Amino acid sequence: MQVIETIAAFRQVRSRYTGLGFVPTMGYLHEGHLSLVHRAKEECGAVAVSIFVNPTQFGPNEDFAGYPRDPKRDLELLEKEQVDLVFTPSPGEIYPPGSTTVVEVGDVTEMLEGAARPGHFRGVATIVCKLFNIVQASRAYFGQKDAQQTVVIAKMVRDLDMSLDVVVCPTVREPDGLAISSRNVYLTVDERRAAVVLYRALTAAEKHFGAGERSSEALRRIMHDTLATEPQADIEYISLADRDTLRELDRVPPRGALASLAMRIGKTRLIDNCILEK
Ligand code: PAF
Repeated sequence: MQVIETIAAFRQVRSRYTGLGFVPTMGYLHEGHLSLVHRAKEECGAVAVSIFVNPTQFGPNEDFAGYPRDPKRDLELLEKEQVDLVFTPSPGEIYPPGSTTVVEVGDVTEMLEGAARPGHFRGVATIVCKLFNIVQASRAYFGQKDAQQTVVIAKMVRDLDMSLDVVVCPTVREPDGLAISSRNVYLTVDERRAAVVLYRALTAAEKHFGAGERSSEALRRIMHDTLATEPQADIEYISLADRDTLRELDRVPPRGALASLAMRIGKTRLIDNCILEK
């Protein structure tokens, strides 16, 4: 496994590989990231992972400074997975003085996470575009946990005629259903117990959808009523939206819909989602 810090060195080494699979991360790796690495290894001749906590996707009052970091452990995990290349640039390498160009994907960035975190998706699209240009992969792997991020990136790839496939992999969950996330470390023991209500709300919606409920209002209410059983849950949004446009729906169409939730428990903001489809 080669660990490379500069764009120039990465480009030089990268030219030895064809059919590269790419997993972009912000480090503090967990089973969710490793599931993406496994899938990339299954499908590609070689695998590159980037570790970069991207400052431009954090708002001024968000957790950039405190975002969990453990580069030593990350590299040990990736070595064990026999990843070929790891790109670990500094912020100055990625954003040298005078770097002002950004990527604005537009409509699908406006709602949900985009409304709650202004500028977030400009930061995500810009860094992912830059990493795609540096890594030159054939396929890039993202988790369904960040559903809107996958929609934004897929749209950027289409709109800018980038020649790689975006592969979306299932959310990896703890045994009680909580989606695995680097931010789960912020939760106290009591908050961690309470956090599972997100998954319970989604499974309640799935159950009623399975029983034939197609009214979005009814399904949103079911998720709301489940979240409301947890006194620590401070609900931010409950959405039942089109899977591609992310516009809110009146009824779930035959092709299904994206149910997504955001809430705070204490100081921690948590998101989760599921696809409601037959
Ligand atoms: O999902 C993440 O970890 C980040 O948003 C990504 C895609 C690595 C861009 O910084």
